[in-house]
Amino acid sequence: MKRTHHCCQLTKTNAGETVSLIGWIDSMRDHGGVLFIDLRDRNGLTQIVLHPSTDYGIELNSLKPESVIGATGEVLPRSDETVNEKLHTGTIEVHVKELVVYNISDTPPFPLEDEKAQKVQEDLRLKYRYLDLRRPSMLQALTVRHKASKIVHQHMDESGFLEVETPYLFKSSPEGAREFLVPSRLNPTEFYALSQSPQQMKQMLMVAGVEKYYQIARCFRDEDLRADRQPEFTQIDIEASFIEREDIYELIEGLIVKLWKDIKGIDIPQPFLKLTYEDAMNRFGSDKPDMRFPFEIQDVGEIFASSDFKVFKSVVDSGGVIKAINMKGLADITQGEIKALEDTAKSLGAKGLAFIKVEGEWKSPILKFFSEDEKKALEKALEMEEGDLIFFAATEWDTACTILGRVRLDSVALLEKRGKITIDPENYKFLWVIDFPLMLKDEVTGKFAAAHHPFTAPHDDDIELLSTDPKKARSKAYDCVLNGVELGGGSIRIHDMTLQKTVFENVLQIPEDVVQTRFGYMLEAFKYGAPPHGGIAMGFDRMVAILADKEAIRDVIAFPKTQRGQDLMSMAPGPVEPKQLKDLKITTLG
Ligand code: AMO
Ligand code: AMP
Repeated sequence: MKRTHHCCQLTKTNAGETVSLIGWIDSMRDHGGVLFIDLRDRNGLTQIVLHPSTDYGIELNSLKPESVIGATGEVLPRSDETVNEKLHTGTIEVHVKELVVYNISDTPPFPLEDEKAQKVQEDLRLKYRYLDLRRPSMLQALTVRHKASKIVHQHMDESGFLEVETPYLFKSSPEGAREFLVPSRLNPTEFYALSQSPQQMKQMLMVAGVEKYYQIARCFRDEDLRADRQPEFTQIDIEASFIEREDIYELIEGLIVKLWKDIKGIDIPQPFLKLTYEDAMNRFGSDKPDMRFPFEIQDVGEIFASSDFKVFKSVVDSGGVIKAINMKGLADITQGEIKALEDTAKSLGAKGLAFIKVEGEWKSPILKFFSEDEKKALEKALEMEEGDLIFFAATEWDTACTILGRVRLDSVALLEKRGKITIDPENYKFLWVIDFPLMLKDEVTGKFAAAHHPFTAPHDDDIELLSTDPKKARSKAYDCVLNGVELGGGSIRIHDMTLQKTVFENVLQIPEDVVQTRFGYMLEAFKYGAPPHGGIAMGFDRMVAILADKEAIRDVIAFPKTQRGQDLMSMAPGPVEPKQLKDLKITTLG
């Protein structure tokens, strides 16, 4: 049978026509032998009617939901009382004369209606991903992804960029994340690394004179996984020669404006706000601040410069900071909620999380240490009023900011729970966070490392600092941030061999021989006329998840991995044949 229409198409204007539809049985109802079936294909639903008096060549009661059938019949208008207003095809039904059964389905392991499936354990849905993807909302996510991809290609083409593919099988390169290694049969004991990003290759394309490169590129990182992290994910990867940071801002803002307009019908104002890393940390305690709600962190170090509270005083004396945030309206916080916030703060390095509740009088475990002058100064600085809740973090600058940044987000969640504020997911507050430091302390190792990656150019004004105090040097790196999510990041790169060598060896302290084996070819390439260049990579999965109103990027990836990096459908990773290992000259310990 060949279909004449899709299941979303037929309306009253088709009444009287003979049509053929093919699809899955979405649902079926037996009305005294007359079988009403909602037939579903990728595009929609149409009601078809099977009559017991017609010989279809099969027992009608052998049909089951999710079976695949084809039906030819006449389009008839429905009677007024059976019209389904919610359905585009709801004014008609097809009375079937000929039926083809392609496949009878077993009963699916979970219900495929959106509301019911939402409640099913995700592992089960991932095991039967092909069934889960039959749900309209999942198909919708794939459709948004497809549309977004088309818009990206169009925008980049119109902006003069050339799409170039780069290898997945690459060499190990310390860009930050742990890599997936691939043994080389032809070069036993040697390994490829799956590309973490096309970073080095796109820079080589600039040396090659491509000038404007882009790629919707798959990247591989063996990271701990979260809602917004997958071991393989997709970037809109971009690099261009002879540009400044502003050119990248304009290019990406243009793309975002188009995506939001064409997919969501929303106008995003331009230019995006720009915030330096220092301001973002000082005011919001995060390098990816959520700007949908006010609540700003303030420095109250001066007020407590000669405090009787030893904790605060000693922090100020040892060069640390005292930061405070006024979470307006949260004075009714419970003991348990405070404890939870304190535990989180401690996991981020806090020694404690002092607070003041303004409930008639001030209530605080540290009130007894405050002088009248300090209280007055605090009240003024933090604009304290009835119902407010103030938190303090006293420690090193970056830790104090980070702690209160997290307290800010968790407190907002508490305010939201109480119905005191509403956060509109459709309020899109884009911004650029700029002037990142060249180096940042790694949260895990505690050592300083390239904040973005080692190819990032230092700020013109801070080149001197590279030899005197590199930790203070700012870089030409930028992140594109939306509502607390890092959508993308990039930088202007170093194109001078000597400066690149200085950054590798003197600033990042990578030993010379390691630099040679890992990046020798880059330094060599820079000898042959490397143009000034820079670029960015946008997290495509993250952008699509937001555009499709999904919580996790798993929901916009056809076949994602679980938190443990597994594909529950095919059960990858899995064991391999001993012969395969032998060919690779690999023995396993397990
Ligand atoms: P970066 O490492 O910041 O930069 O990555 C760019 C963007 O990719 C997304 N992203 C991820 N998405 C899903 N799962 C992951 N595991 C994951 N990791 C990163 C984020 C992030 O902002 N080569 C540089 C870019 C450049 O300098 O041009 C790079 O890869 O949205
Ligand atoms: P303590 O004197 O240790 O009992 O602390 C008194 C209060 O100050 C408690 O509420 C602690 O959580 C808080 N506190 C202790 N150290 C700090 C700090 N470094 N920053 C913020 N609050 C602190």
